[in-house]
Amino acid sequence: MIKPFEFLLTTKIIYGADSLEQIYQEVKSLGLRKVMIITEPKLIRLQLVAKLEKALGDINYVIYDEIEQNPKDYNITKAAKEARKHCVDGIISFGGGSPIDAAKIIAVLAAQGGNIKDYMHKKATVQRSLPVISVPTTAGTGSEVTFSSVITDTEEKYKHTIKSPLLASKVAIVDPLLTLTVPPSITATTGIDALTHAIEGYTSLQSEPIAEALGLKAVKYIAGSLEKAVKDGNDIEARDRMMMGSLMAGLSFSHSDVGAVHCMAEALGSMYDAPHGTCNAVILPYVMEYNLVKAAKKYANIANYMGVYGPNELMTASEGVEHIKILSRKIGLPNIKSLSVNPEDFHLLSEMSEKNAATHSNPRVINKEEYYKIFTRAFADS
Ligand SMILES: [Fe+2]
Repeated sequence: MIKPFEFLLTTKIIYGADSLEQIYQEVKSLGLRKVMIITEPKLIRLQLVAKLEKALGDINYVIYDEIEQNPKDYNITKAAKEARKHCVDGIISFGGGSPIDAAKIIAVLAAQGGNIKDYMHKKATVQRSLPVISVPTTAGTGSEVTFSSVITDTEEKYKHTIKSPLLASKVAIVDPLLTLTVPPSITATTGIDALTHAIEGYTSLQSEPIAEALGLKAVKYIAGSLEKAVKDGNDIEARDRMMMGSLMAGLSFSHSDVGAVHCMAEALGSMYDAPHGTCNAVILPYVMEYNLVKAAKKYANIANYMGVYGPNELMTASEGVEHIKILSRKIGLPNIKSLSVNPEDFHLLSEMSEKNAATHSNPRVINKEEYYKIFTRAFADS
């Protein structure tokens, strides 16, 4: 039977060493007169924003650096107000997942107006946006090529995903050299986020052949280079592979979906305001153990792409999960206790996970009772 699907192409990707230098031409090509750079204070301290400013030459810009980790509703409201005040006609997002996710919805609010909560609660739909050029400085988020923004409702303490093709960046400038200064711990947690995107994008019930191909190849790139990138941040080949893997994984999951790992990680991130990569890292192997029986063939393929082989499909799949656990230990990833979780919260966290739309994309049917068991298992194992 021929399985129908759609695959939307929206973002021009410019990939390469020093590709940041091409941003001037891209801003000019889009006809932008004044842009807002949305970034993080630490990137100003690291002089990375200075590199961007140099590349922008005589282009008029303002810098906004007040986006927090797990971007909050009030971050978006304030930034959109600033964008309007400065009459910018385009946005450059520069940083990890937080500024890029934030920038995409700030661009909508700046162009269309409205209240961020209405978009989060699906009372308003995205109709138009300022053009966004995204420049990732970590290999993890994939947000530079996705159609979504994940924003925290601070009253509910719940992460909402706003999805629309109109949120997509016009241009993604992906320069692996920008990740050279990322410290080992962040390389590890953002890298596991990318690996999770690749695995969930490939195994999602929404996947199709293109998303599968991108996800599987991303597994190979990421699993083969993550340890090297963590151990030696200046390993340019490893940084290149990680950036390419992150990009391909982003393309994969944005066209299929994520699954139970992200449902649980977003619940943890909402409740404890913990980094997204860390939340994925502490959960990934336990969800894989749960999914194993229903996704054995795909999990065996994942294992093979990590260089792991076994006597049969199920054992290969199982060895693959072990391989990820070993990799996690080698790169010093934290466990769930490091997030200071309270087991009394597991019931609420399980309900939050079940409420996440991506629950329905997980390759094995999952409900709050199963989520509870996985949280408990991850806690007992740490
Ligand atoms: Fe993620």
